[in-house]
Amino acid sequence: MKAYYLVKNGNSNNAFELRDINLSEPKADEVSIEVEAFGLNFADVMARLGYYKACPPLPTVIGYDVAGKVIKKGANVKDIEIGQRVTALTRFGGYATHVNTNQSGVVPIKDNTDATVATALATQYSTAYYAAEFSMNLQKGEHVLIQAAAGGVGTALTQLAKRKGCIVYGTAGSDEKLEYIKNNGVDFPINYRKQDFYEYIKAQKGEKSMDAIFDSIGGNYVKKGLKLLAPGGRLAMYGAAQIAGDSDKKSLYRQLKILFGFGKYSPTQFFGNSQALIGVNMLQIGDFKPYILKKCMSDVVDLYNSGEIKPFIGKVYDAKDLAEAHNFLQKRKSVSKVVCKW
Ligand SMILES: NC(=O)c1ccc[n+]([C@@H]2O[C@H](COP(=O)([O-])OP(=O)(O)OC[C@H]3O[C@@H](n4cnc5c(N)ncnc54)[C@H](OP(=O)(O)O)[C@@H]3O)[C@@H](O)[C@H]2O)c1
Repeated sequence: MKAYYLVKNGNSNNAFELRDINLSEPKADEVSIEVEAFGLNFADVMARLGYYKACPPLPTVIGYDVAGKVIKKGANVKDIEIGQRVTALTRFGGYATHVNTNQSGVVPIKDNTDATVATALATQYSTAYYAAEFSMNLQKGEHVLIQAAAGGVGTALTQLAKRKGCIVYGTAGSDEKLEYIKNNGVDFPINYRKQDFYEYIKAQKGEKSMDAIFDSIGGNYVKKGLKLLAPGGRLAMYGAAQIAGDSDKKSLYRQLKILFGFGKYSPTQFFGNSQALIGVNMLQIGDFKPYILKKCMSDVVDLYNSGEIKPFIGKVYDAKDLAEAHNFLQKRKSVSKVVCKW
């Protein structure tokens, strides 16, 4: 049994070390999984760069999603059988050949489900589903803005919003990505490197025109987003990708700039406009509302099985090329899901 340990913050080439591991017996609510594929998430890049507060002290194994086969289970696990293939959200520990994880983030998949697709369903689709269904309660005909629409969560949000009959505005950072988000269902694609998203939407539809905004960038994006929010609108913030910047070095200056970029808000502003600013953090949902995590995971697997969502796998790496895969995601070259296979 092996795992890639994060041993050093900074450049991906020096960050990971492959080590032997011993897997402990699963606890009462856990299953042990033999991993076929593990997914990368942008939060992993944040953890590698040293920006992720929830990351355990180094050396540690990071990684939020795996697909594989259950080889053992704890006494309380009733609805998952040994030998079943599953998709699983891991609370770190995913960059491994074997991992134990709580049953609340584990859902069986069909024998013919591609393991790489199954990793996309875990963190990115379940986060998007929780945000779209539970936090934002999207309605038919609503105008929705999705930041980083070409990313893993962005791809999932676009498909879920279109499924609800929403009109989708989406941002991405290159013309190739713009083509991708258009094909994925975005009605108004915006290359934010060429056009400020706030100015574009203001010119097209005016301020106070968006019913729902999904923001994973943070700072001034949220401030501008709130100006675009209609009365009755909701803005969900679930990431602050801007903090990663373009460097491998941590920058306090950038962190402060983003923090101040958010601006200041008063509760009366939200009350007065019947608006909501909603935070989404799936680790907290997993810890405090595990039944909701389970529902999100089960629902996205059902939507996949019925063909209502179509995860796109942007790139598959051999696990030995983990450093390269990380760099690819950090440098914003990726579209949708990036996966490593053992
Ligand atoms: N709260 C939660 O529970 C939760 C769960 C999952 C994910 N997340 C967050 O959701 C976001 C998306 O995650 P993901 O794994 O699907 O990653 P992703 O969207 O596939 O990749 C991140 C994308 O963000 C954009 N980006 C990166 N740095 C940026 C910057 N400085 N300014 C503007 N845009 C930037 C890039 O897109 P462009 O090339 O188009 O700029 C990049 O491809 C991340 O912020 C992640 O931390 C949160």
